[in-house]
Amino acid sequence: MADAKPFHWEFTPEPVTREVFRIEGGVPLTGEVPISGSKNAALKMFAAATLTGERCRFTNVPEIEDVRVMAETLRDLGVVVDHPEANTYEIASGDVEWLFVPLEAAAKMRASFILLGPLLARFGQVIISNPGGDRIGRRPVDLHVEAMRALGATIEYRNGYYFATAPGRLRGTEVRFPFVSVMGTENAMLAATLADGHTVIRPAAQEPEVDDLIVFLKEMGAEVERTWPDTIEVHGKRRLRGAEHRIIPDRIEAGTFAVAGAVTGGHVTLTGAPCDHLSAFVEILGRAGVDAECDTAAERIVVDGRALREGGYRACDIRTAPYPGLATDLQPPTCVLLTQASGTSQVHEAVFEDRLEWLSDLNRMGARIEIPDNHHATIRGRTPLHGADADIGDLRAGASLILAALAADGESTIHGAHHVKRGYENIERKFADLGARIARLEERFEEGTVSTPS
Ligand code: UD1
Repeated sequence: MADAKPFHWEFTPEPVTREVFRIEGGVPLTGEVPISGSKNAALKMFAAATLTGERCRFTNVPEIEDVRVMAETLRDLGVVVDHPEANTYEIASGDVEWLFVPLEAAAKMRASFILLGPLLARFGQVIISNPGGDRIGRRPVDLHVEAMRALGATIEYRNGYYFATAPGRLRGTEVRFPFVSVMGTENAMLAATLADGHTVIRPAAQEPEVDDLIVFLKEMGAEVERTWPDTIEVHGKRRLRGAEHRIIPDRIEAGTFAVAGAVTGGHVTLTGAPCDHLSAFVEILGRAGVDAECDTAAERIVVDGRALREGGYRACDIRTAPYPGLATDLQPPTCVLLTQASGTSQVHEAVFEDRLEWLSDLNRMGARIEIPDNHHATIRGRTPLHGADADIGDLRAGASLILAALAADGESTIHGAHHVKRGYENIERKFADLGARIARLEERFEEGTVSTPS
């Protein structure tokens, strides 16, 4: 039985409400925008909450579709998920009746695979759908599966599902990854908190969301430390307790709004922004000639886009990398910025395959971008952008098409708004509050076969 084979099931999801963004571009965005809690941190906190039967409480949770899907997935397992007020969730995993994470969850959100480690560690078994077949490259989960096997689990793959068992407790071990994986690190770490003995994970991802998860796990009573930048060590405990946690701000949302200020030639202040988590990105803004000032103590980033009006930005080469490098999730917004930079910029997308495909949509809006292969692009600027009809393929590309439409002359219709709602809280409201002319309109349609989002 081969693991993580590409997954070809035909699955027809329920009809979804399809929405479009209608944007009239060319308005310099001005004002303050509050940055929401981090999607990639919140989803893992929800998974961590299943490590205990006691109640966990999370604040600063972003009101986004992925969080709603994770909450629904947990409820289907028998977990109590309360949403007492906006941005606050409470989770109690006393009785989990159904250790089965179905294809429906994986199809809506690949991050549902983060439930493998904690459910296996706490309940000794889980059946979980393989989320392979993502639109952004292959996105396999082999590293997660191998990490669980190293911790003593038995995992079989049948008909698109992993059947995982760990009679007794998982065993602490050395988990060695061939390269850095964010969710792979998190899955191994979550599982190890309840394992018998000492686990060393390396190379461990260094993303701030991983460290936020460590903070929460310690609040739950887990013994977890980052003992070296790329090493996490865990001493397993028999039980963990309930805890409260405030989710860190979303650095990717912050980067998206920073580019919005820059490419519209506006003046945008990001409040509650994680300056410390954006060093590589802010350094690129500086190289491109964008005036971005970070006030770490006040958690503010002020982006002044006047250089755009005074001749445009400067071309620069970028390369994505695991943290502390430039986040692959900020590659699409940065590419929009580079269309407004004079000269030739080379883009190297080193983390995922196929994350550059969306750039052909940017070309339809007036950009001049060549894409010689899956990992490289050349952007020739500066090119004025014009309004167009475009189709969103995934979350980050979607937000970046909005950025391009905001910078463009004329009207754009961006189809597939539901992809953006997965990861951005009230995005059109936040842009409208900065003066953007943007509306989200509904249209009904039936979706075809599944394609798993990132
Ligand atoms: C997380 C983020 C995503 C971000 C990415 C990289 C969440 C929910 N998502 O995704 O927004 O873009 O980190 O910063 O936190 N890989 C394998 N086998 C595996 C796992 C990964 O080959 O089992 C490969 C991937 O195809 C990719 C690379 O490893 O080329 C890094 O991916 P990874 O860090 O695992 O990304 P995610 O954790 O899925």
